[in-house]
Amino acid sequence: MRAEEAILTRRSTRVYSDRPVEQEKLEQVLEAGRYAPSGGNNQTTHFIVIRNQEILAELARLVKQEFSKMEETPGMYKSLAGAIRRSKGEVYVFHYNAPVLILTANRIEYGNNIADCACCLENMMIEANALDLGTCWINQLKWLNENEVITQYLRTIGLTEEERVYGALSVGYAKNGLPDRKALPRTGNPVSWVD
Ligand SMILES: Cc1cc2nc3c(=O)[nH]c(=O)nc-3n(C[C@H](O)[C@H](O)[C@H](O)COP(=O)(O)O)c2cc1C
Repeated sequence: MRAEEAILTRRSTRVYSDRPVEQEKLEQVLEAGRYAPSGGNNQTTHFIVIRNQEILAELARLVKQEFSKMEETPGMYKSLAGAIRRSKGEVYVFHYNAPVLILTANRIEYGNNIADCACCLENMMIEANALDLGTCWINQLKWLNENEVITQYLRTIGLTEEERVYGALSVGYAKNGLPDRKALPRTGNPVSWVD
């Protein structure tokens, strides 16, 4: 698949099959992430790849628990408000039960921490699409990246004291085997040409 096709046909996948992701493909996805540019060529993004189903389930439980303690406030970012609302219901699995969740962490004091993680996530999403894998950017652990319960748990799986999670990516085969590759027309992201 050419780069342009992989970019234009990438869509978010939120329903995954149980089919495991091949080690080789996962390594290709991670390599694409590791080759993303970084501010000052810092290369400080830390990829924490979670495949252990017990850890994924515990993380989902803790995220639901911590969101359910929060309240929506007027003007709150709608996705965050939606997460808080859904966490108070019976079932809320922020990572959509994907077989793999890749956390992108970076240094707290580094000014390009979010930007660098975003570059890595985008590279991985495009590479995954080219490999017939579905992905979805998962932001809950960023919203909770100052939460003590979540941070303590993440430290047990490799997050260091100097790091915070700035984004995450669910990865797996879509329920029907292939990502939904419908390229939707752009209605935003305007371009101003200055000649
Ligand atoms: C910064 C960012 C945060 C996002 N957070 C989430 C999220 O937490 N959960 C989710 O299901 N999708 C999340 N998304 C995916 C967007 O909802 C999705 O990209 C958008 O609706 C466009 O759909 P498409 O990816 O299929 O083109 C996020 C995307 C970005 C870029």
